[in-house]
Amino acid sequence: MLINLSEKNSIVQHFLAQIRDKEIQKDALRFRKNLFRIAQILAYEVSKQLNYETKTVTTPLANAEVNVINNQPIVCSILRAGLIMHEGFLDFFDQSDSAFVSAYRKHSAPGEFEIVVEYMASPNLQDKTVILIDPMLATGRSMYLAYQAICKHGVPAKVIIASLIASEQGLVYINRFMPKASIITAAVDKDLNENSYIVPGLGDAGDLAYGIKM
Ligand code: URA
Repeated sequence: MLINLSEKNSIVQHFLAQIRDKEIQKDALRFRKNLFRIAQILAYEVSKQLNYETKTVTTPLANAEVNVINNQPIVCSILRAGLIMHEGFLDFFDQSDSAFVSAYRKHSAPGEFEIVVEYMASPNLQDKTVILIDPMLATGRSMYLAYQAICKHGVPAKVIIASLIASEQGLVYINRFMPKASIITAAVDKDLNENSYIVPGLGDAGDLAYGIKM
């Protein structure tokens, strides 16, 4: 299942316009804030895919029946670019535990790289719902490698992938290697360039949020 928030007009388009704009995105504080705000909206959409149970709450006047999430999802982000979105998700899923995986591109030649997963911190994921977050779903390889890495801590019952921008190629890759995962994204872009950056995309999400790395 794919949910693309850009298929309908909403305030998300305003945040995306700012986050993609090469002048506005130079304001790192605004960039992070927009990433955070979009993550919150994605979290709200993800909440519709979870299971609920009815709970009785006592108000000052009487009892009220409310439906609450019956199994908190685990929020799992790919470092470092996923960190801001992670906070946006935790803002809504405030009882969730977290997992983190590092994945970086180790370049051997221009345009050629392998993805290295080095660090992981995760609770037991067996039979849990896991929300896997990476702002830029470019080739899809980091996402799949991160998924394989976290499965060492138990195989989730359900995986929901959340991204800011997904490439069409990345979506095809995920559908092929993680066919049961559902995907939610704020936008889908057509191309990848020779360096596997999403086009038109926004550039390097991690650098824009946290500064240029060596
Ligand atoms: N990572 C990014 O930050 N941007 C891309 O376009 C692809 C991967």
